[in-house]
Amino acid sequence: FDLNRLAQLQHKLWFGSAADIPGTGETTDTAYLKLLKSNFGEVTPANAMKFMYTEPEQNVFNFTEGDQFLEVAESFGAKVRCHNLVWVSQLSDFVTSQNWTAEALTAVMKNHIFKTVQHFGRRCYSWDVVNEALNSDGSFSSSVWYDTIGDEYFYLAYHYAQQALAEIGANNVKLYYNDYGIENPGTKATAVLQLVKDLRARGIRIDGIGLESHFIVGETPSLADQLATKQSYINADLDVAVTELDVRFSAAPFYTAAAQQQQAQDYYTSVTSCVRAGPRCIGVTVWDFDDAYSWVPGAFAGQGGACLFNDTLDAKPAYYAVAQAL
Ligand code: XIL
Repeated sequence: FDLNRLAQLQHKLWFGSAADIPGTGETTDTAYLKLLKSNFGEVTPANAMKFMYTEPEQNVFNFTEGDQFLEVAESFGAKVRCHNLVWVSQLSDFVTSQNWTAEALTAVMKNHIFKTVQHFGRRCYSWDVVNEALNSDGSFSSSVWYDTIGDEYFYLAYHYAQQALAEIGANNVKLYYNDYGIENPGTKATAVLQLVKDLRARGIRIDGIGLESHFIVGETPSLADQLATKQSYINADLDVAVTELDVRFSAAPFYTAAAQQQQAQDYYTSVTSCVRAGPRCIGVTVWDFDDAYSWVPGAFAGQGGACLFNDTLDAKPAYYAVAQAL
């Protein structure tokens, strides 16, 4: 089938995938590209728009990869969640290798946000403005941004993104906060709601919350918990998107029948929670749709098998479970 078409027809949400294009095996893998283009109505650049690629040296910008990514997305009519502006990881050396004053680093952040947001403009459906800023206890986590600028960095990032978009008349590009561990009720999810209040109290716009949803087979939060959390954001007048869904095995074997059945159930639960949350859960994006290109084995030693397709591009039970959920 076409998962995105199912999603759009029945629930008016999108079904998307991360893609690591250009410059990787995915870029020229015709079987992969065929599946990408036939199943997914949204794509997120896994790397192409991150800081280290867009601003490798201070105030020297390189948008070539991001532009190429957008060209591929636009060639098959997919929306793009642009990802991301301010994060602790994948920063350029010039950011992490010197001792900044708060004022100087704030200027760096402002320049990065303005140039990047204004370059890509309306071609982005949304921006993940700040990515993964919180510890599991809800406090800000250590990063060059937080350690140098303090809490203010968070509010300023949204303020600058909003200003940058306003200057080019692109106010309809949505501003998101994206994180993991905020898919079920708890301290971290509550802290996100507080940050939203704090932003709005300062007159700063935020439109939505991205729930990464990197889960482990058999340990996926329940439907009730995932639904309640999405509803809590929606009740706070926010859109919600599932942004990086994958369900990994913490150890091999990845492809036994019973294990794949549990994985299918876990995917079904996560997609269903978005469907049930209603129209303000605007889409589900998987963080790569096939095991060959998944980030999981590189990030978690010995783990894998997290995607809808295996590494030879055969659909797993999880794929059909998602189609059922849609
Ligand atoms: C990952 C990419 O998939 C990898 O290719 C890269 O090496 C590291 O980053 N949370 C995020 C994503 O918000 O940007 C990360 O993507 C996965 C975790």
